[in-house]
Amino acid sequence: MLLAIPSSIFLFLHLFLFPISYANIPLGSTLTPVSTPNNNSINWTSPNNTYSLSFIPIASSYSAAISFSGIPVWKAGGDAGIVDSSARFELLLNGNLRLTNGSGGVVWESNTPNRGVTTALLDDSGNLSLRNGSIIVWSTFQNPTDTILPNQSFTTSMRLQSGSYSFSLLDVGNLSLRWNTDTIYWNQALNSSFNGNLSSPTLRFQQIGIIQLSDPTLSVPVNMAYSSDYGEGTDIFRYLRLDSDGNLRIYSSDRGSGTSTERWAAVLDQCRVYGWCGNMGICSYNDSTPVCGCPSLNFELSDPSDSKKGCRRKMEIEDCPSSTTMLQLEHTEFLTYPPELSSQIFFVGISACRLNCLVGSSCVASTSLADGTGQCYLKGSTVISGYQSPALPSTSYIKVCGPVQPNPSSTSTVNNNQSSSKKLPAWVVGVVVVSTLVGLVLLEVGLWFWCCRNSPKFGGLSAQYALLEYASGAPVQFSYKELQRSTKGFKEKLGAGGFGAVYRGVLANRTVVAVKQLEGIEQGEKQFRMEVATISSTHHLNLVRLIGFCSEGRHRLLVYEFMKNGSLDDFLFVKEDASGKLLDWETRFNVALGTARGITYLHEECRDCIVHCDIKPENILLDDNFNAKVCDFGLAKLINSKDHRYRTLTSVRGTRGYLAPEWLANLPITSKSDIYSYGMLLLEIVSGRRNFDVSAETSGKRFSIWAYEEFEKGNINCIVDKRLAEHEVDMEQAIRAIMVSFWCIQEQPSQRPTMGKVVQMLEGITAIGKPPVPKVMIDTSLGGTSSGNVSSSISALSTFATSAPAPSSSSSSSLQLGAISSVSDSNLKTTPSFI
Ligand SMILES: *[C@@H]1O[C@H](CO)[C@@H](O)[C@H](O)[C@H]1NC(C)=O
Ligand SMILES: *[C@@H]1O[C@H](CO)[C@@H](O)[C@H](O)[C@H]1NC(C)=O
Ligand SMILES: *[C@@H]1O[C@H](CO)[C@@H](O)[C@H](O)[C@H]1NC(C)=O
Ligand SMILES: *[C@@H]1O[C@H](CO)[C@@H](O)[C@H](O)[C@H]1NC(C)=O
Ligand SMILES: *[C@@H]1O[C@H](CO)[C@@H](O)[C@H](O)[C@H]1NC(C)=O
Ligand SMILES: *[C@@H]1O[C@H](CO)[C@@H](O)[C@H](O)[C@H]1NC(C)=O
Ligand SMILES: *[C@@H]1O[C@H](CO)[C@@H](O)[C@H](O)[C@H]1NC(C)=O
Ligand SMILES: *[C@@H]1O[C@H](CO)[C@@H](O)[C@H](O)[C@H]1NC(C)=O
Ligand SMILES: *[C@@H]1O[C@H](CO)[C@@H](O)[C@H](O)[C@H]1NC(C)=O
Ligand SMILES: *[C@@H]1O[C@H](CO)[C@@H](O)[C@H](O)[C@H]1NC(C)=O
Ligand SMILES: *[C@@H]1O[C@H](CO)[C@@H](O)[C@H](O)[C@H]1NC(C)=O
Ligand SMILES: *[C@@H]1O[C@H](CO)[C@@H](O)[C@H](O)[C@H]1NC(C)=O
Repeated sequence: MLLAIPSSIFLFLHLFLFPISYANIPLGSTLTPVSTPNNNSINWTSPNNTYSLSFIPIASSYSAAISFSGIPVWKAGGDAGIVDSSARFELLLNGNLRLTNGSGGVVWESNTPNRGVTTALLDDSGNLSLRNGSIIVWSTFQNPTDTILPNQSFTTSMRLQSGSYSFSLLDVGNLSLRWNTDTIYWNQALNSSFNGNLSSPTLRFQQIGIIQLSDPTLSVPVNMAYSSDYGEGTDIFRYLRLDSDGNLRIYSSDRGSGTSTERWAAVLDQCRVYGWCGNMGICSYNDSTPVCGCPSLNFELSDPSDSKKGCRRKMEIEDCPSSTTMLQLEHTEFLTYPPELSSQIFFVGISACRLNCLVGSSCVASTSLADGTGQCYLKGSTVISGYQSPALPSTSYIKVCGPVQPNPSSTSTVNNNQSSSKKLPAWVVGVVVVSTLVGLVLLEVGLWFWCCRNSPKFGGLSAQYALLEYASGAPVQFSYKELQRSTKGFKEKLGAGGFGAVYRGVLANRTVVAVKQLEGIEQGEKQFRMEVATISSTHHLNLVRLIGFCSEGRHRLLVYEFMKNGSLDDFLFVKEDASGKLLDWETRFNVALGTARGITYLHEECRDCIVHCDIKPENILLDDNFNAKVCDFGLAKLINSKDHRYRTLTSVRGTRGYLAPEWLANLPITSKSDIYSYGMLLLEIVSGRRNFDVSAETSGKRFSIWAYEEFEKGNINCIVDKRLAEHEVDMEQAIRAIMVSFWCIQEQPSQRPTMGKVVQMLEGITAIGKPPVPKVMIDTSLGGTSSGNVSSSISALSTFATSAPAPSSSSSSSLQLGAISSVSDSNLKTTPSFI
């Protein structure tokens, strides 16, 4: 009887009479897109109204969707679930959940009839589940469409789908994006050195913005990607969605705002998404916007209103057997991804690449990589997906009926109509062409002279173009022989840093220099030159100047100005009056300030944001007047301010004791990581002690921890270097410096000040609040310089990586001070001295 009442009224009663079971959707309930006098359209909501299930309008049609503040996160039937205004979404009495079109045709169903379903429930995590009592028979979390919500488990049996694109997790732990189930255009492996099968890998998207992979065989969940705002804010709704353009993105939305901001994208270059511009479509960039066009005027858009639908030939090949020819497209590549890759590669020259395709009856297009490998891809009847960019060295060919009608050059591939440029008088065109040619020839000659002055080879030509862009700070290129001569065969070693040994040298004009012989730099020539150009264009009083470089074969050397007074550690940590090398307070404070200014410049003021990644006394040099000069910047990893959100952790360099906790926890490294290292350095400048020193005097605790305890007790004097006892010390400055250092070494990056702020605080321009306890996750005092594997200690830190979102000071993930001292104690025994 009860069920005979129109379900809407039933639910209405239900809502008001039984508020506790509010979200339970009884069998027989129905949703409709528009309310009618008899059947009100109902909106099923989760208990807190966080999510609702209703019909949402899509163009002139509807889709039954679970949404969060208007953002759809699950759609019945996915892309195919488009229905008209008389559609119904019903939970049938037999337990089947069904979407029918106006005509009554079943568009989608959960296939759960007669499986004992007694109720449906939409919970506040966005999970709609069909249940037999408390047993979950079916849920939207197990059947995602294109979105993964926080806490939703994504396993190898699931798939996100959007149009022809899909996202899946493989048994080996790879995340992959595919076009048409086979072409893998994006693949991220768990770990390059891991090649076994996992037992039951599960991907979880964390509310704080991290994509994490866990598996019983992995001791620690592995973070696969971070949103650029990860860990920020507490009231941000984040989700992972496979968009219709084939890119997988993390979005953030302020709760209730209904608008989303992209925070991470799997494929950085949209033009590399296979088939994004459709068959025979060519992707290119209009400023920074990717646009689609056709290869030439021999083609037209398949759908003039949607350039992403691809192109078709105006005349088909079959209709012109005698006049078939190859259209040549410079700087164009036809995307080739596995599994297509292996069967299609040939090692032939560029003209053979063209000819082979022309004569091959099944070949439609070909791409010659022109990168020196002589690789040629022949493309058959599959989708041809083109990418055109001045940065691409490839030349591609596509079969057309002659004659070839190239796109008007002014609008390149983008515009398909022929109007432009035809109206210009011929002589104008002539003058422009001739003067352009003359200009090009002059430029070419100039370049030739410029680059062949030093280099006997012509090979690096394209690499040198890159350098030219930075002509303002262009460094001198030295030959290896020249540097060998100036360093007398690398005789006088000044030191050995994290990137290689440094030698003293004298240039032909008698300038004394420091020559750094880089080791383990595996970058290509071009990349190296780009980095050199960036470093040498970074000028600041407190940064060591790069004079020149050498890049020959496997030799990579950097030539820096020579700093007579060497590095700061020599002055800070000398044994008792070993050599009168004691810095007075004023000099120390100036060194601290100068270093802070140099780093501020790197972080905030220069064109490409540089995170130093290895700030320590050894990398602070002192010139004749004891001015601080930061060295080794730009070597660890250049982080483009635009791209740093996409950065993945690959090269872990840096020195323990100065490494911020995020290095060890496998979290993203930002400029705040430098702040941490600087904080440790600052404490050392004040105290003349290594921050990780452990001694009886410090009650067996690490110096930095002991110092905070003394600071709390008001014992500033015992933190300041004892050797300064007979000298004048500006205690006000000392207290400022100590407080700043404790702010800098806060565990949470967000609590650390920026470098600009540090400078202001040191100068006394900005007031300094009392710093909280700088909690430390684990003892990082072991070992000296490390250029790699800190992951061994990561397992101990797993709680950090998976910790709660809020960057609150009371995070439970860190060990308390007491625990630290006991860790230190045990380390004391195993590694008696690292001093
Ligand atoms: C309204 O409900 C009645 C009975 O439940 C059903 O027969 C009718 O088709 C519904 N109308 C619409 C427009 O959904
Ligand atoms: C569903 O109801 C909730 C609360 O009543 C409301 O916030 C939400 O906007 C509604 N959704 C739709 C699509 O009507
Ligand atoms: C739902 O609302 C209650 C009361 O406002 C709150 O305690 C609870 O945390 C909320 N749950 C979720 C998942 O938001
Ligand atoms: C539902 O019906 C509408 C209008 O009759 C139609 O345009 C649409 O394609 C149908 N949807 C499906 C999935 O059959
Ligand atoms: C529903 O659950 C009960 C136990 O809770 C079980 O006995 C019954 O077989 C289930 N029904 C179906 C169809 O699985
Ligand atoms: C995710 O799960 C955690 C613990 O299992 C829980 O505290 C949190 O509220 C959940 N988040 C959401 C959005 O449901
Ligand atoms: C959501 O669905 C999953 C199945 O993937 C289930 O295990 C989980 O318990 C559901 N969550 C809630 C809160 O019911
Ligand atoms: C997983 O990714 C790695 C690295 O990209 C690749 O070499 C490997 O072939 C992939 N495995 C599978 C099964 O796709
Ligand atoms: C990669 O996997 C290997 C072997 O499983 C492991 O030793 C190594 O620590 C892993 N590397 C990272 C960065 O997780
Ligand atoms: C992983 O699983 C695949 C398919 O189940 C199997 O072919 C392969 O040999 C397995 N690899 C390893 C290293 O166990
Ligand atoms: C390219 O950008 C220009 C200027 O921003 C704009 O006028 C033009 O319409 C764009 N072309 C396409 C194809 O979007
Ligand atoms: C010596 O030569 C180097 C590189 O050629 C140049 O940077 C430097 O300014 C020169 N020094 C003097 C004193 O001319």
